[in-house]
Amino acid sequence: MSETLNAVELVDICKRFPGVVANSNVNLKVRKGSAHAIVGENGAGKSTLMKILYGMQKADEGKILVDGKALVFESPSDAINVGVGMVHQHFMLADNLTVLENIILGSELKKGVKLDFAGAAKQVTDIAKRYRLELPLNEYVSELGVGDRQRIEILKVLYRGANILILDEPTAVLVPHEVDELFRALGDLKSEGITIIFISHKLDEVLEIADEITVMRAGTTVGSVNPKIQNVTAQDLAEMMVGSELPTPATTESTVTNNAVLVVNDLAVHTESGKAIVDHVSFKIHAGEIVGIAGVEGNGQSELLDALLGIVKSSGTVQFLEHNISNWPTRKRREHGIAYIPEDRQRQALLLEAPLWENRMLGHQTLPPNSKGFWLTPASAKSDTQRIVNEYDVRTPNIDVFASALSGGNQQKLIVGREMSGNPKLLIAAHPTRGVDVGAQAAIWDHLRAARAAGLAVLLISADLDELIGLSDSLKVILRGKFVADADPTTVTPQILGNAMTGAGAAA
Ligand SMILES: Nc1ncnc2c1ncn2[C@@H]1O[C@H](COP(=O)(O)OP(=O)(O)O)[C@@H](O)[C@H]1O
Ligand SMILES: [Mg+2]
Repeated sequence: MSETLNAVELVDICKRFPGVVANSNVNLKVRKGSAHAIVGENGAGKSTLMKILYGMQKADEGKILVDGKALVFESPSDAINVGVGMVHQHFMLADNLTVLENIILGSELKKGVKLDFAGAAKQVTDIAKRYRLELPLNEYVSELGVGDRQRIEILKVLYRGANILILDEPTAVLVPHEVDELFRALGDLKSEGITIIFISHKLDEVLEIADEITVMRAGTTVGSVNPKIQNVTAQDLAEMMVGSELPTPATTESTVTNNAVLVVNDLAVHTESGKAIVDHVSFKIHAGEIVGIAGVEGNGQSELLDALLGIVKSSGTVQFLEHNISNWPTRKRREHGIAYIPEDRQRQALLLEAPLWENRMLGHQTLPPNSKGFWLTPASAKSDTQRIVNEYDVRTPNIDVFASALSGGNQQKLIVGREMSGNPKLLIAAHPTRGVDVGAQAAIWDHLRAARAAGLAVLLISADLDELIGLSDSLKVILRGKFVADADPTTVTPQILGNAMTGAGAAA
């Protein structure tokens, strides 16, 4: 028999969950000794596929071949026995044990065999040296940062004899210099003959280190590319992921009207020590207009939004339609048609340990369809949640699951759907697409543009300058609490805007 070149081959894998087909006819070949990236939008089925390869979940159909041999995994220990190991997105280490203890313990001991700790320790040290995974083996895990914890998980898997290493979104939890260290470590592992399969949605990273990239979309594999040979860009990959040309935030025809929805005059927010964080700003937003605010984080934009919502005290006046709302409480502002997509969705916009339909009511509990008079009306809240799930393509098995069960992108779609409900007149949106994948991002842009065309006034803050420039009808730059420049979104570039944000140059 000829020597097989594939460390892993997955053939026609299918996996169904109640109401969801997570994998359908997935095919994947991973060459021995290569670094193989799996990319795809949230919910594309990447983690499920890897869990199947690691024996954590059982495929409904399909074949798994490791080193050319067809195998059936009943559990992860079956996978480990043939050299397949996985590092999960969330680490599973005991804080009160040392690095060494974490690596050695938990490895299944054979019955009747006493653990030779000293021998095991020597083995771990040797493996760490061989793969150049530097770790303080005798320190307690509680003392260590995320990068170290991840290396412990990798070492743990290698200690169990893995020569095929699966990593699920390993860079999601790392800061940039830790990412560099991880990539260096993965390079070292590869040069020692380890096959690496990793999931990422950071396409630049993937292009940097992968020998081959397989793209998944809606539960199936749609193609593989070899970036070392083919000329592939992040844009190409993103287009394969979404299955169409990449959407852009660009907004062409203006829908700006003469009807002022929000008129802010001389608004200021002060710290306890009396410093102005929002330093006397004035502006207007009309029906059908998106006003974007560009700024380096921490220059007063959060406080400006909080003031507009009545969450913090401010001076100056805020006129909303025919009302002077300057002294209104937050709830009254919301009841009159101010919608809010906050910066931190998990802390400010969701009850993670509550079902989706309760999240539908959050912040809107005094409004239809969630209540009638003094009474909450859960049945209509539920049916409206289902409407949002359909209209905003929130991928979820049902509306009774907790918000924590959804991916970040799907959480955000739920929030946007909720805030767009009930025909708001003004939307205050902070980073509406931060952390969501390209498909969800495009959907959110579409909803914002449609609402704008229907007369919604929008105040937009975003760290994504392409988004800010693309969506906005007019742009202001905030620096140390003041509007320091206006920019024309039809001509300004991210570079010019970026300079203006740091005070290094004037915007066009
Ligand atoms: N244990 C599970 N029970 C029910 N549905 C699941 C489960 N695991 C994943 N899913 C669903 O399967 C689909 C694919 O999920 P997943 O493999 O986690 O995607 P990805 O890792 O690409 O984001 C999603 O719709 C997800 O909600
Ligand atoms: Mg995943």
